[in-house]
Amino acid sequence: MLLLAKYKELLGEWYAKSEPHSISAWEMFFFYRYAHDKPIKRIVESGTYKGYSAFRLSLLFPSVEVVSFDKRKRHMKIARKRFGGPFYRTGYLKDNLDIVDGDTAVLIDGPKSLEAVSLAKMVAGRAAFVAVHDVFDIVPELEWIFDSVIHSGNPSPEEREIDIDANWGPTHYGSYYGGPLAICK
Ligand SMILES: C[S@@+](CC[C@H](N)C(=O)[O-])C[C@H]1O[C@@H](n2cnc3c(N)ncnc32)[C@H](O)[C@@H]1O
Repeated sequence: MLLLAKYKELLGEWYAKSEPHSISAWEMFFFYRYAHDKPIKRIVESGTYKGYSAFRLSLLFPSVEVVSFDKRKRHMKIARKRFGGPFYRTGYLKDNLDIVDGDTAVLIDGPKSLEAVSLAKMVAGRAAFVAVHDVFDIVPELEWIFDSVIHSGNPSPEEREIDIDANWGPTHYGSYYGGPLAICK
């Protein structure tokens, strides 16, 4: 089965449900394409908001533990109410670094900018790989820390179709093709 078909099948009705401020279908597919054949046992997200990305990760990686942190209790309450699930924790990933080991992928979607760089630096040596969302202005800093940084900017026309197909218009983003999600290793 083609990877995109598998991705759609795993997400089911959630494939085409967009949510402002969330990781888009194309960006999530970029993550899935990189991570689906890696031997990871856990995905730890920093920045839950309403829980949308954490929930989609749990659908995409059914045999992987998903844990998501948000500093705001209010956001966590919304996420728990909406999705339930054991994966939502109030607090900061920087205070829970023992959860990150060599079998763990880290996804940073809050904090942003240089604070995201600091957090990426903290987990760099510990995690299997680190994904950072909204990297418009921080690719050079990430390239200082990691040997390899690949980012989802400049998708091909076919790849753009993924977002359009899943109801995520390009206008969803402030700056769509600036490299929104980077995988760092
Ligand atoms: C863009 S939203 C996350 C969206 C979510 N990942 C999704 O795709 O559905 C960013 C979230 O990060 C949280 N945040 C910001 N700084 C944080 C930090 N240092 N630790 C944990 N959460 C943080 C904010 O409260 C906000 O809920």
